[in-house]
Amino acid sequence: MQQAILPLSYLIGSVTFIIGLKMLSHPDSARKGNLVAAVGMTIAILATIFLYTDENGNKLGNYAWIFGGLIIGSIVGTLAAKKVQMTAMPEMVSLFNGMGGACAMLISIIEFKHHTSIPADLYEEAGASALKMIPGTLFITIIVGMVIGSVSFAGSIIAWGKLNGKIKDFSFNGQHIVNLLLLGVITALTVYVVAMRPDTTIMLFYTILVLSLLYGIMFVFPIGGADMPVVISLLNSFTGVAAAFGGFLYNNPVMLTGGILVGSAGTILTILMCKAMNRSLKNVLIGSFGGGAKAGPAGAKEQGNYKEISLNDTAVLMAYASKVMIIPGYGLAVAQAQHVCHELEKILQEKGVEVAYGIHPVAGRMPGHMNVLLAEADVPYEKLLEMEDANDQMGTTSVVMVLGANDVVNPAAKEDPGSPIYGMPILEVERAEHVIVNKRSMKPGYAGIENELFFRPKTSMLFGDAKKVLQDLVAELKQV
Ligand code: TAP
Repeated sequence: MQQAILPLSYLIGSVTFIIGLKMLSHPDSARKGNLVAAVGMTIAILATIFLYTDENGNKLGNYAWIFGGLIIGSIVGTLAAKKVQMTAMPEMVSLFNGMGGACAMLISIIEFKHHTSIPADLYEEAGASALKMIPGTLFITIIVGMVIGSVSFAGSIIAWGKLNGKIKDFSFNGQHIVNLLLLGVITALTVYVVAMRPDTTIMLFYTILVLSLLYGIMFVFPIGGADMPVVISLLNSFTGVAAAFGGFLYNNPVMLTGGILVGSAGTILTILMCKAMNRSLKNVLIGSFGGGAKAGPAGAKEQGNYKEISLNDTAVLMAYASKVMIIPGYGLAVAQAQHVCHELEKILQEKGVEVAYGIHPVAGRMPGHMNVLLAEADVPYEKLLEMEDANDQMGTTSVVMVLGANDVVNPAAKEDPGSPIYGMPILEVERAEHVIVNKRSMKPGYAGIENELFFRPKTSMLFGDAKKVLQDLVAELKQV
């Protein structure tokens, strides 16, 4: 009976994980999806703790350690998730991703130690070194899981620091060659150790561990501002793959399913992000793109004058427009202006104006950031246009309202081959009749580069915190 319940719990864990993942694809069902997957995983974890037995019939035991860890982890996780500001969410996701990588790394280290601590008399009996007694597939699983887990852990910690501004971009000439060499040495050492099992295997194992951690740091360090989204989703898929190796190691189907799904979802996201940024995955892996350190904040070029628009003029322009396209960006999340933004959309619609949102895939600081933000304010999902669709409609749009977005509307991506964001597809707002940009100052966005859009003839600047500006705009519109 007990033997049937354990696989059944794994089946429940795997199926609910898949269902949960599917439900995450729509804001209406996302919360429930998260819960469904979490309940399934809890069942699988509890079943493992209480029902798993090894080949000798021994249970896991160590309950104080297991539940001690579970309780501390749950308390820390709950507090962190409750306290985190919406704008700090991307950093937290990166940190949690790093913890997944660290788990995979630790599992590999522990399993390596476990398999290399066979009693001395057994060595003699077998007439071989303990290292040679580890089956090849098992050893490969341990070492590859360790390498991927360590890269993901170290890389995610650097990404976390870069997202919260504590770590600055760092690069030096020829860094991509050093990165490539490092990757080559890790691969060569891994193949050598697995194939030859020299007497120095233990030392080499820990050398590979240190080099992998170093590679994780080195490959994320130079990534230029605007290219971070690709790296984040890549690290995400690394953690999934590392967890899948853990699943192989323990022959645990639910860990395997979870790891493979996270790994493949992360890979698909990476490909989409590469497409969105017009970058190649090869460049991401050797960490050589993004133009290194950020450009100077004030930009090198003399930009000329910009013009401002008053709240009243903005209200009139919008009220008499046939179609308004709102372009949300990171600043909207900072201002927490999503609710009042939805209010603006409703008032305009009441006045007979067609309203849509143009969503850039890397707007904000995490994949889907704008979708989550607007869903929080109950903006109908159908109103969110993907970048290509938004660009198709730009020519027939009377007013584009850029709300706290900057890099994703920067024409340098199309026009300036010297720009670090050159080649990244953007929302082509200048094809609309009027462009109104709301931000607090003339400061650059995440990529740290000047935006010429603000100085173009069609553009008018509406300065101020997005929430305050939108509240005042809604009040003005009520008078028009
Ligand atoms: P950004 O280019 O970062 O620009 C945001 C703008 O919002 C800033 O220029 C800022 O100007 C303005 N702002 C800040 N607080 C504001 C407030 N309270 N009210 C009004 N405006 C405010 O944002 P974006 O256009 O969304 O582009 C995203 C950038 O982040 C890209 O470079 C992307 O590659 C990068 N990134 C994205 C991700 C993911 S996965 N999405 C992850 C990491 C990095 P002021 O200071 O003048 O107000």
